[in-house]
Amino acid sequence: MSDITLPARPTHMRMGSSIGQNLTRREGVLKTTGAARFAADNHPAGMVYAAIAGSDVARGRVTSLNVDAARAHPGVIEVMTPANAPPLAMDPDAKLHGFMFRLDLLQNDRVRYHHQPIAVVVAETLEAATEGAALLAPTYEVEPARTDLGADDSFVPAAVGAGHTASESHGDVEGGLDAAVVKMEATYDTPAQYHNAMEPHSIVVEWQGNTLSIDMPTQGFAMTQGRIAGLFGIPAENIAIRSPHLGGGFGSKALGVGPQILGIMAAKLVGRPVKLVLKREQMFGPVGHRAPTRQTLRMGTDGTGHLTALSHHARTATSSFDDFFEPAANSSHSLYASPAIATSHDAVRLDTGTPMFMRAPGEAPGSAALESAIDEMALACGMDPLVFRLANYAEYEPTTGKPFSSKALRECYEQGAARFGWAKRPMEPRQMRDADGMLVGWGMGTAVFPALMFQGQARARLLRDGTGVLEIGAHDMGQGAWTGLAQIAADALGLELDQIEFRSGASHMPDAGIAGGSAHTATAGAAIDGAGADVIGKLADLAMNDARSPLFGAGNAGVIARAGRLYRRDDEARSESYGEILARAGLDDIEGMGTGAGDPVLRSSYAMHAHGAVFAEVKVDPDFGQIRVTRLVGAFAAGTIVNPRMVQSQYYGGMIWGVSFALHEHAVTDKRSGRVMNANFGEYHVSVNADVPSIEAIMVEERDEHVNALGIKGVGEIGITGTVGAIANAVWHATGIRVRSFPITLDRLL
Ligand code: MOS
Repeated sequence: MSDITLPARPTHMRMGSSIGQNLTRREGVLKTTGAARFAADNHPAGMVYAAIAGSDVARGRVTSLNVDAARAHPGVIEVMTPANAPPLAMDPDAKLHGFMFRLDLLQNDRVRYHHQPIAVVVAETLEAATEGAALLAPTYEVEPARTDLGADDSFVPAAVGAGHTASESHGDVEGGLDAAVVKMEATYDTPAQYHNAMEPHSIVVEWQGNTLSIDMPTQGFAMTQGRIAGLFGIPAENIAIRSPHLGGGFGSKALGVGPQILGIMAAKLVGRPVKLVLKREQMFGPVGHRAPTRQTLRMGTDGTGHLTALSHHARTATSSFDDFFEPAANSSHSLYASPAIATSHDAVRLDTGTPMFMRAPGEAPGSAALESAIDEMALACGMDPLVFRLANYAEYEPTTGKPFSSKALRECYEQGAARFGWAKRPMEPRQMRDADGMLVGWGMGTAVFPALMFQGQARARLLRDGTGVLEIGAHDMGQGAWTGLAQIAADALGLELDQIEFRSGASHMPDAGIAGGSAHTATAGAAIDGAGADVIGKLADLAMNDARSPLFGAGNAGVIARAGRLYRRDDEARSESYGEILARAGLDDIEGMGTGAGDPVLRSSYAMHAHGAVFAEVKVDPDFGQIRVTRLVGAFAAGTIVNPRMVQSQYYGGMIWGVSFALHEHAVTDKRSGRVMNANFGEYHVSVNADVPSIEAIMVEERDEHVNALGIKGVGEIGITGTVGAIANAVWHATGIRVRSFPITLDRLL
């Protein structure tokens, strides 16, 4: 006889059909009619307006501000400068962990970058505050700005990205390069880029004694509460933050930025509610950006087109006063099967705002360089770029040797290539023209992004009337969290979507973790699923232990929760509604909690990534060098697709970022002054509808048993990876000119 261990609680199934439904955004009507309330739409009684005065110089000291002139302006209430800023409980230059950024909160007269806040004017109207800020007419003691990415005082950072080691080496890279039959080496430049969400950073804030009532866009409630709590010396639970909708975040709204904290300080100073909204130009400095990179790729292959070594080095930049390092080289860790892979980073300090997580941090510039280099290597081997990639397909993660939790990249290649018509691509460049004489080029790139999870919680409640409530402090940045997470919630509770109330977007709810790293649906979804399992388990216990219930004695078989009823798993003829169970137990409701996080054992056993393949067609004017992307086909595999429409939209968005990266975005710094010369949407170009005539995203089927219980990987950022290289490679194919500096502009093709 063997010992049989009975589970503490039988496994109950929950069945639903909401996940996978192709719903439109549930808040779509609110948004299109203007009823959705974004942070800056709030106007508490007695509210006044704050305007930031930003530095005109990148490095030095403020020597004077004409505070009297600003104060004398009609409507101006107060001018906040280092002289009268409310004291903080914590030095804004302290850094307790890697997710804490040093802030400029008027702690002194130093200027560390262009557009750094140097004063805040509070007034009865926005106009008066803005005019007051203009009247400050600052003077400076200016020091020469450091702007050179190639400066020779570089250093190796202790960590890059979110705490990854700066250098890794697997196998004998130099030996592999020496032994190679074909070799390539090339250096690629990517520029500084700024997040530029459509909604600028803003805050509407009111102090009530020792508590704070805040409307602000945030990608992370607990992190933001914690930062504010530390700076003002109040408990985090005294800080209520509402953030039901964000007009984009892209990483820059995760942690609470300096200008938002200045709004809280201003409210304290004047003793009234304050609204502070950044002007577009003020988003080029104090709220993060993507640092420039200079990346050198070295590769070798044997006589059959198989890699013998891959080396990827990235130089990047951070600010003079804080540390964030774009982990660009790490994009070479997981994609191509090379027996030897080395990645490394170094960095210089420049007089800029501190860079930050931005739209596929690391992978976006890293894959731009890697996918360009792979194209160059394929060409050197005389191989079609897709054939070359398939020859070097990684069956195991090459740097760790781990199996992939799932990897349908081969299917992505096949389906994307078929849809695009890749088989008709001539090997040589400059072979195709359209009817107007434009040069036509086709290129491709591989997309990859890790399937991350953070940690989040959710609360589920079942009510006596048969409906359910799911609460989670999640973030809808426009990606569709109100919709996708509600779909998960319905299935988690065994209810139809219209039987549940989904509550989200506020800090008093269970924290969902950061909406970033393309991990929000997986993390929040797992928390929601767990909360549903918990509450259904409790409900089943009530029924199964009650002799009056048809479920009595269901025992280890457990129950199935479906459409608001529990069914015995071993006899579905016996069932009872949620409401009946609660009523008999004399309960109005029953509550469960869930936590979403990656399983540490599975996460250390498997490599977890989403994958994709992007195919691009460009047309280039042979006389003027003007480049247009005329066709993009992306095929992505990212596990369970919670809502195809939302996911397709995420893929489109990512690919359009890719067009933006490849051809448009470029923050231009004046080498002499360190000023950002194009801090506006007239001159800092982002791709718009007209820049992408045809775009398709194929959702390749993939089931992942290990990544989390629902099999969800991320879809938010993968679209930008692969796309940049695909476009660069298409430009080469159209013109025969290899541009290794982004963005690719027409002057480089003349
Ligand atoms: Mo993203 S850069 O993790 O919001």
